[in-house]
Amino acid sequence: MRSTASYIRVISFLLIAYILIELTVESGEQSAFLTEPLTWLAMGMILLFAIAIEISLEAFRSILFRSLKPEAQERYLLAEKTRKEKQFQWFRNIYLKLVDSKPVEQEDEIILDHNYDGIKELDNNLPPWWVYGFYVTIVFGVIYMIRFHIYNDYTQAEEYETEVAEALIAIEEYKKTAKDLVDVNTVTLLTDAADISAGKAVFNTNCVACHKADGGGGIGPNLTDQYWILGGGIKNVFRTISEGGRDGKGMVAWKQTLKPAEMAQVASYVITLVGTTPAEPKEPQGEIWVDPDAPKEELQNEVPTEEIQETVSDSTAVVVNE
Ligand code: HEC
Repeated sequence: MRSTASYIRVISFLLIAYILIELTVESGEQSAFLTEPLTWLAMGMILLFAIAIEISLEAFRSILFRSLKPEAQERYLLAEKTRKEKQFQWFRNIYLKLVDSKPVEQEDEIILDHNYDGIKELDNNLPPWWVYGFYVTIVFGVIYMIRFHIYNDYTQAEEYETEVAEALIAIEEYKKTAKDLVDVNTVTLLTDAADISAGKAVFNTNCVACHKADGGGGIGPNLTDQYWILGGGIKNVFRTISEGGRDGKGMVAWKQTLKPAEMAQVASYVITLVGTTPAEPKEPQGEIWVDPDAPKEELQNEVPTEEIQETVSDSTAVVVNE
């Protein structure tokens, strides 16, 4: 231990271990060190292990050294000394090349002959790392100017638009793989035949006992008419299925049993039942539901207002009787 090289060895050993752990431990998007606390233990063990190796190597070397004859020991020490001097030589060389500063001993060669209250100025060369960096910006600037100001490759606005379009596509892709992300705020009416038939399957397994296979209603209300107790439209229907009906009425919250995607599918299926004619329709309950987003005139053409009033009072009576 105790030499710079051994510290560097231990640290690089740890770095390699860190990278290997990140690559091999299954941890999704997060770092393995956040999801698997055991990895810290592993790193600790590896650190101890690396230090132990360094200590034993050092001990081994000193035993070997002591077993040498005096002349051999001297030769060894000399060899070590030159090796130490050459160590990191290439690194030092590169550093000196990049900075190109004069060593302190030669500074009087470049000192300028003015003197401000004892503060003197050295005429150093510009550090090459800086000069080359500057050349790179010039080259970059020329290429940039030709590409964007002469050939008008694309503008910032266009760049923004393509990126937004790409992001929208990515969101759509993501939604396809993550259907269960829907909730009452984001649910939309599904129209895919596959979704509707999946919804129908959910309905047949869970809902027919109370709503009948054709949605005509039994214990639960008729789902095929325009009248809704808890509101029509995909969002309200989804909410009713997810959160359940009013207390004590028998419609439970299905979010315990069904996945969000399944609730969206069955809600969409329920909407497709509206307007069909069931075998034994239950009398309407609730109110005619008007989509607040729909254009006004159409609604007035469909049902005269007095009629709505009548049926509403009718149906409230029915509910109370129940
Ligand atoms: C145990 C009987 C029962 C089962 C099973 C049942 N429901 Fe209901 N459902 C009801 C009752 C009762 C109501 C009325 C709730 C109220 O008045 O608050 C209702 C209301 C509804 C409503 C709202 C109707 C309106 O007029 O606002 C929808 C939509 C609905 N159910 C869909 C479903 C779906 C989908 C399933 C299957 C996942 C299902 N129900 C399963 C009994 C049931």
